[in-house]
Amino acid sequence: MFITVFGQKGGVAKTCSSIHIAACWSYQQKRVVLVDSDCNRSATAYGARELLPFPVVPIEAAAKATRLAEIVITDGQASSNEDEIKNLVEGADFILLPTTTQSRSIELTVEMSQMLRKYRVPFAALLVKVDARKEAAAEQAMELLQAFDIKVLDSQIPLLSAFEQAETEGVTVDQAVDKRGRANPRRMTGWSAYCAACKEIEDLFEEHQKLRKNQSPIGWDFTRMEHRVAG
Ligand SMILES: Nc1ncnc2c1ncn2[C@@H]1O[C@H](COP(=O)(O)OP(=O)(O)OP(=O)(O)O)[C@@H](O)[C@H]1O
Ligand SMILES: [Mg+2]
Repeated sequence: MFITVFGQKGGVAKTCSSIHIAACWSYQQKRVVLVDSDCNRSATAYGARELLPFPVVPIEAAAKATRLAEIVITDGQASSNEDEIKNLVEGADFILLPTTTQSRSIELTVEMSQMLRKYRVPFAALLVKVDARKEAAAEQAMELLQAFDIKVLDSQIPLLSAFEQAETEGVTVDQAVDKRGRANPRRMTGWSAYCAACKEIEDLFEEHQKLRKNQSPIGWDFTRMEHRVAG
């Protein structure tokens, strides 16, 4: 399964989401590789201490590094141009769009979704950095996205200092500790939210595969390395 984590807005937890969904699946004994397609190399920097349970490779090295992987997650960059978007989308089985409750983030996800509809790749928004004290904002964001017919995962990623602590240490949020080395008490809520998101992605992907089996589109099928014909 090829998953691209993507979005035009900066700082909406694309890298954080890529790292965490990769980790959740790795802990389920799946062979996962995270491909860093951002020229800032944020995912590579996150994994530089080699404390993550999966490899992070730059996009230029992806072909060989992902040969035996069951799940390949690509961390996209903000403000990609149309060509980059087209390539990222065509190389994916599923697109995840991390979105915050801020209006600009929602607007950009709506715009992106309109572009994604041209392709046959399923996608869903994931609400991230959801402030537990502002429940109404998350509900409103969810309703707005759904009004544009965008699938929004039920799982929402809470806004937690544990994520920043984890990034500083180069570990996933379940291992987040503060400056004094004490385990962050809320770290597991962040971890469980990402694991629940993984389960939803798997289900959506399977659902889409079933639907596709009943259709005979024309085009190049990368999974079978052959041209599909109508009929
Ligand atoms: N749920 C969260 N709660 C609190 N902080 C978070 C959360 N998710 C991510 N962060 C923090 O927000 C910052 C931006 O996250 P991240 O780098 O993943 O965003 P990005 O979308 O990949 O950014 P860019 O557009 O620069 O690639 C980081 O410092 C990260 O630790
Ligand atoms: Mg990033």
